[in-house]
Amino acid sequence: MGHIIQFTGLSGTGKTTLSNALLAWGELSGLRIKLIDGDVYRQTLCKDLGFSKADRLENIARLGAYAWSLIDSYDFIIIAAINPYEEARIRLKHQYGASLIWLRCDLQTLIARDPKGLYRKALLPDNHPDKIHNLTGLNDTFEDSLIADLIVDTDKLNAEETLGVVVGFLSDVKGAVVFI
Ligand code: ADX
Repeated sequence: MGHIIQFTGLSGTGKTTLSNALLAWGELSGLRIKLIDGDVYRQTLCKDLGFSKADRLENIARLGAYAWSLIDSYDFIIIAAINPYEEARIRLKHQYGASLIWLRCDLQTLIARDPKGLYRKALLPDNHPDKIHNLTGLNDTFEDSLIADLIVDTDKLNAEETLGVVVGFLSDVKGAVVFI
């Protein structure tokens, strides 16, 4: 039986970068890793959902249920979504024993990085047609987590260092030391 790992973190904190690095690590280490990336599943399984609180909770609930359906087929199933509400994170922990990794990053750094241009759009004047009114961390809720099993500060660690910390954590979860 595998283990579900849920991420939480604002857009641009490095969830997708870390996930892709973990997939490559899995290949090298002979571990079966499934990535459930929020961005991708919002085009399919969660296509009908928007960004209200109710929809974000539903999004995580669906991704959790999907991850659970795969529990016997993988060593790790990673849910890489913003996952901004503590109640959704708690639910995945209680229902599925999912661990929680918080990729934390200072907002100023995210605004400076802004690979998708989302922060720029959220900072536009209110009447601008392109303005995003509910961007997590800027003008929508992100609840700091009190139940994270691991917090990684991605404004202080680079991608390689982040991978190292997370691989160490996953190796502990699996009860075996697995080197990169
Ligand atoms: S979650 O809040 O429900 O967990 P999820 O991770 O699935 O979010 O989707 C977030 C992605 O949707 C972001 O990476 C971004 O590309 C896109 N997005 C579009 N609008 C928003 C918004 N208002 N807030 C956050 N992400 C948004």
